[in-house]
Amino acid sequence: MPNTHLPLTTDRRMTALKRLLLPVTVAAATCCLPALSTAESVPALTVEARRAADSLIAMIKGELVQALETSGPLKGIVVCKYSVPELTSAMSRRTGWKVSRVSLRTRNAALGVPDAWEQAALLRFEERATRGEKADGMEVAEIVEEPAGRFFRYLRALPAEPVCATCHGPPATLSEAVKAQLAAEYPFDRGAAHDPGLVRGAVTVKRPLNP
Ligand code: HEC
Repeated sequence: MPNTHLPLTTDRRMTALKRLLLPVTVAAATCCLPALSTAESVPALTVEARRAADSLIAMIKGELVQALETSGPLKGIVVCKYSVPELTSAMSRRTGWKVSRVSLRTRNAALGVPDAWEQAALLRFEERATRGEKADGMEVAEIVEEPAGRFFRYLRALPAEPVCATCHGPPATLSEAVKAQLAAEYPFDRGAAHDPGLVRGAVTVKRPLNP
């Protein structure tokens, strides 16, 4: 029976984090990370970014679904808040690319706000999904010139699936425990009320290129 009323004290969070991070660290070290390559064509770079996004999404979903099934949504929030940023930063350090998650309706303003390129691409994803295209598999890849240099940019849509609604659905549908926990942890939360099937956010990959 999931314990949906587990109070997330700091000690408990840290214990939960340690328990979660051990398998996560092992998985990140051994599993499916993209091979580095010197190829700089958009198709070749896209293959590598796609592989990174696939592996990240699989790891996040594995952790999240396991937490939801074994301990309930409050443990799921711990996974999203602590394990997922660990996974994305481990992948960023491993590859030298910037890998993270972003959304136009951000829950964590400190980590999840998209930059201008990501906002434009997310808007296009949303327009396509609103016209009836499936959000699953939507992606965009491009080489861009920025003041800080040349970069390969890649964005993969994360559809709002039924499981996401536990924490990203309309406020009226969230449990009282989830609502209270999110209100306590995310004072600038705009991450609820995502329509099923539309775009909840994206995995973003930003890779520096030679000048
Ligand atoms: C158990 C609750 C929970 C579930 C279920 C959940 N999320 Fe989240 N999600 C969160 C929390 C909490 C954050 C903020 C994480 C942080 O502190 O960086 C978040 C953040 C995100 C972000 C980063 C951008 C932002 O808004 O801060 C994306 C993208 C995201 N979630 C997508 C999803 C998708 C897609 C699903 C379904 C497959 C999902 N989430 C399911 C709780 C959840």
